[in-house]
Amino acid sequence: MRPAVWETYGPADLSSVPVFAGGFINFGYWKSVDLGQPLSQDDRIRSERDLYRSVLDAAAPRGGRAVEIGCGLGLGCALALEEYGPTRITGVDIHPQQLQRAREANAGLLAAQPDRLRFALGAAESLPLGDVEYDCLYSVEAAQHFPDLSAFAREAARVLRPGGRVAVASFFTVDDAPAHADRLAELLDSFASGLDIARPVSRLVDALAEAGLVDVRATSIGPQVWPGWDRWLARLWEPGTWPRNFLTAWEQQILDYYLVTAIRP
Ligand SMILES: C[S@@+](CC[C@H](N)C(=O)[O-])C[C@H]1O[C@@H](n2cnc3c(N)ncnc32)[C@H](O)[C@@H]1O
Repeated sequence: MRPAVWETYGPADLSSVPVFAGGFINFGYWKSVDLGQPLSQDDRIRSERDLYRSVLDAAAPRGGRAVEIGCGLGLGCALALEEYGPTRITGVDIHPQQLQRAREANAGLLAAQPDRLRFALGAAESLPLGDVEYDCLYSVEAAQHFPDLSAFAREAARVLRPGGRVAVASFFTVDDAPAHADRLAELLDSFASGLDIARPVSRLVDALAEAGLVDVRATSIGPQVWPGWDRWLARLWEPGTWPRNFLTAWEQQILDYYLVTAIRP
């Protein structure tokens, strides 16, 4: 595991940082939150849950087997079980401490529905799963950390059944202009430290297509992510400080937030 990932999701426990809330670790999808009003903790958690819903709506796990890659504390797995009705869901994460937190956060559900939820330690590039086992593979705000998107795409194609769907939400550069990586490292500590990796969204689209998936699409959901995330950050951080530079990077058309979908033929 890369050192920045180990530290951030291990000892530093990003889920405990106040800008994240409710056990989720994502920037949120703010479409149904009124950004003209003061934001509450409930609004923040709703945005994080709504980011999951935007992904799960695209991945359509109803009635089948689902797997989440980079599941963090596993609360998105619980949401999927509750609202989307998969027969079974597996949450995969590379970090053993995250999986420990996931097992604690979902102890009641694991005890009540042991056949429907499980967590597994593993990397996106080398999934601890059998071939053609899943109807749906999804991932929320984790792919910016995956060092090898081609290996991830091959693994997605391997574990999905024919007709199975992929839905990945994460941030990528808008194109492959060489200056983007340096500019992001200047603006954002998480890129400078190597936690987040600067790559064009076309890298994931191409990787999924090369792995044999079809109907591969990347849709910008940045307008529903960045303004709300920045409005929430404004409670704690001044403009120009590092996390608020995500909005700057979007406004400067360097970085965007995408939902990438594909189907296993
Ligand atoms: C920003 S958190 C998102 C967690 C969760 N999806 C959510 O939205 O609350 C990213 C997660 O991806 C995991 N991760 C990072 N690199 C990974 C990899 N190569 N394979 C699997 N998981 C990875 C981290 O341990 C962390 O739990």
